[in-house]
Amino acid sequence: MMYGLQRAARMLLISWRINPLMWLIVDLKMQEMDGIQVIEGLKNIQPSIVGIVLTGYGSIPTAVKALKLGAYHYLTKPCQMAELETILKEVKDERNIHLRRVPDHYHGIVGKSQIIQNIIDTVQLVKDTSLPVLISGESGTGKELVARAIHFDSCRKENPFIAINCASLKPDLLENELFGHVKGAFTGATNCKDGLLKICDSGTLFIDEIADMDLVVQASLLRFIETGLFRPLGSTKEVKVNVRIVAAINKDIEEEVKMRRFRHDLYYRLNVCRVNILPLRERKEDIPLLMDHFLTTSPLVKDRTVTISSSAMEIFLFYHWPGNVRELFNLLGRVILMTKESMITKGHLVTFLPSALRKGHEKASSLKDIEKLHIVESLKAHGGNISATARAIGIDRRTLQRKITRYHIH
Ligand SMILES: Nc1ncnc2c1ncn2[C@@H]1O[C@H](COP(=O)(O)OP(=O)(O)OP(=O)(O)O)[C@@H](O)[C@H]1O
Ligand SMILES: [Mg+2]
Repeated sequence: MMYGLQRAARMLLISWRINPLMWLIVDLKMQEMDGIQVIEGLKNIQPSIVGIVLTGYGSIPTAVKALKLGAYHYLTKPCQMAELETILKEVKDERNIHLRRVPDHYHGIVGKSQIIQNIIDTVQLVKDTSLPVLISGESGTGKELVARAIHFDSCRKENPFIAINCASLKPDLLENELFGHVKGAFTGATNCKDGLLKICDSGTLFIDEIADMDLVVQASLLRFIETGLFRPLGSTKEVKVNVRIVAAINKDIEEEVKMRRFRHDLYYRLNVCRVNILPLRERKEDIPLLMDHFLTTSPLVKDRTVTISSSAMEIFLFYHWPGNVRELFNLLGRVILMTKESMITKGHLVTFLPSALRKGHEKASSLKDIEKLHIVESLKAHGGNISATARAIGIDRRTLQRKITRYHIH
């Protein structure tokens, strides 16, 4: 029965992406479940559902019960269309007010672009459901920040939020970390060990760089998402836990599925609730707000007021930020640390940004060329040290390694 409801909720969520102002009108007397049970069950999965119960068996106790269990309204049949229309209009107006109230600073997510506002809307719609979420976006766009917002604004917030990165663990280690093992499961397994799924019960498990997960581990994860069950290594018994999965990816997942490196069935499961964070260069209107946020909250500026000159702001707005928000924050941090003045000017940026930025500012070459130049210059500045370069430009080591290969940088 719950599986049916989960499916119904998924269908509703798909429709929500098209129209977030959705409601559900159900009859009270139905076979198998009554309308109140349907609304109650669906609200457990998706709390923002607006349910209206229609019935020919009107009575005050049933009306009260329907409202208590989360129905928005209760109408007796034959209902007048005008009455129903009034209620639906009321729902729509209330929802519009709610959507308009979305702040430009939500659980640390700063941004006023439509892209960020849509992300915040989606987070608010899905946060209290148990459905898995897939967050995609380039390195440094804020995937972990969004994952944390989903958890820390949800009914799971008092329970654990644990992150695991698939790219940093070999397949058997990753399997062991996720599912745990029993004593004697393999040579050296002298004690049993709980996996993260067990430790994370009632909370959220954030699986970063999921495209790097081995296909066998993907199969076990899919089974867990579908049933809530998993088997620790070497155990014959299955364990049931209630863990919400939030996964992140900075590769093109559709391409990974096409190349059969990622299971299509797991992709379909995860892709129902998808949050795609576009790169900073495609939402440049967020840059001043993000800078302002950094300049007012960073411990680096605790005893100072730092402002940005308009010519420096022009450069910030022009640059294409391959390392996205992380690169922006790292750069601001470096500039603030090294200058004692209260205003950041174009002159400071000439010192702190690699020449690729200056060249790019004078002549608009292609973004790829600018990125390549930026990487080459930074590598030179750090004596070819990949870790130091990655840190300086604000992307992770693996991403830098991929870009070096892609741009044939020697
Ligand atoms: N919209 C935003 N508002 C405020 N801070 C942000 C925003 N987006 C990203 N950041 C900040 O940028 C930094 C990088 O964010 P985060 O670690 O979430 O990126 P990511 O997408 O997980 O990157 P990666 O793929 O490299 O792991 C963090 O310091 C984060 O707080
Ligand atoms: Mg991350």
